[in-house]
Amino acid sequence: MSEALLKIADKEYKLPIIEGSEKEKAVDITKLRAQSGLVTIDSGYLNTGACTSAITFLDGELGILRYRGIPIDQLAEKSTFTEVAYLLIYGKLPNNTELGSWNENLTKHTLIHEDLKRLFGGFPKEAHPMAIMSCMIGSLSTYYQDSYDPENPEHREISIRRLLAKFPTIAAFSFKKSIGQPAIHPKNSLDYCANFMNMMFSVPAEDYHIDPEIVKALNLLLILHADHEQNCSTSTVRLVGSSLANLYAAISAGICALWGPRHGGANQEVLEMLNEIKASGKPVKQIVEEAKDKNSTFRLSGFGHRVYKNFDPRAKIIKKACDTILTKMGIKDPLLDIAKELEEAALKDQYFVDRKLYPNVDFYSGIIYRALGIPVNMFTVMFAMGRLPGWIAQWKEMIEDPNMKIGRPRQIYTGPTETSYEDAKKK
Ligand code: CMC
Repeated sequence: MSEALLKIADKEYKLPIIEGSEKEKAVDITKLRAQSGLVTIDSGYLNTGACTSAITFLDGELGILRYRGIPIDQLAEKSTFTEVAYLLIYGKLPNNTELGSWNENLTKHTLIHEDLKRLFGGFPKEAHPMAIMSCMIGSLSTYYQDSYDPENPEHREISIRRLLAKFPTIAAFSFKKSIGQPAIHPKNSLDYCANFMNMMFSVPAEDYHIDPEIVKALNLLLILHADHEQNCSTSTVRLVGSSLANLYAAISAGICALWGPRHGGANQEVLEMLNEIKASGKPVKQIVEEAKDKNSTFRLSGFGHRVYKNFDPRAKIIKKACDTILTKMGIKDPLLDIAKELEEAALKDQYFVDRKLYPNVDFYSGIIYRALGIPVNMFTVMFAMGRLPGWIAQWKEMIEDPNMKIGRPRQIYTGPTETSYEDAKKK
């Protein structure tokens, strides 16, 4: 099967069929409008492949997720976040020398400009850290105007390193700002995750003990979030980047897209939902009923996925890790018991069964973040920190594609046809 035949009225159009390395097939409609005058419409892109990509493969029916061909469970068990970042961005696992110099680069660029630090002072204390992140990451571009040309390979490389290195510093500073503590500067002796935890939790008066179990847990969570092919925020990064706006601008837009409760913002919503259930004492069955009620906008946060219709492989790993990490840290969290009860009730319910709604990556991740001491309003920032290498890899792949075009969807107009101007103020 190498082409599809489309018949419109009495005319036939031959449309090429392209095939991916995992045998997925797509009808290529690139030339359809030029040939027939018709566009396709697919609200919410349920059935639209926006690009070809060699980065991440996922099969929603079989619950498969692989970065550059490597199954997510193997990476979760054996790799570190910075190694996975390299894999996603450069397409292969780094050897010892490559990893050494990569990590050194990410360490060397962690400081942020002193003037940028002053910007933090302009936000109200209660500002959501995702708003701060988006603003700060966009603002980075103002300091590097001589080296942010996406079409220049050297500029691309330096922007990638700066972003990955500075993101945790900015994230930790935004947290410190929200609690009124002084910012803690990065320490070059610490690795990526340990450095982040130190910037979050040490204070000038007292060192923070860096527990290797916590660092391991953080590596795991960030790896699981590192890429997920053409989701809402990644597509946003690609779309903004396709205009040749700089990488900082594209990532800043991606952060805004991730913030929403239907996307990365769900991890914060899950914890808030579990807390509310605990506080109200409502039985989980009632919560499940409320989530099914079409007269209400309430949805079970952390449930359902556009692509996974069987199970989310990341949720499986996180659920197991949740038990292990909490046990190792000697934490008994009543919210974990509520989450498990809720999952059990929902999975037995016909509404959730019929719609193939399962716990997603956000359902248990918040319970681990909570155990690590991360505040709830920082959960989506943690997601963004994990997703950063994926956004960068997807942007780089797009920019380096010689056939790259600016993203520009069509529409079908449904407004008024031509109408004359009549001054409404005189009526
Ligand atoms: N609770 C109750 N009903 C739900 C839920 C839910 N969590 N998710 C979907 N449904 C229902 C929805 O009402 C609809 O029912 P009906 O067919 O009767 O109208 C049906 O299931 C299909 O839902 P949809 O919104 O058309 O499906 P979608 O593929 O467009 O949306 C989703 C996927 C993730 C946005 C959605 O499942 C959702 O809103 N989940 C809660 C938010 C969430 O956990 N988001 C994190 C996603 S995973 C991490 C990430 O990628 O950011």
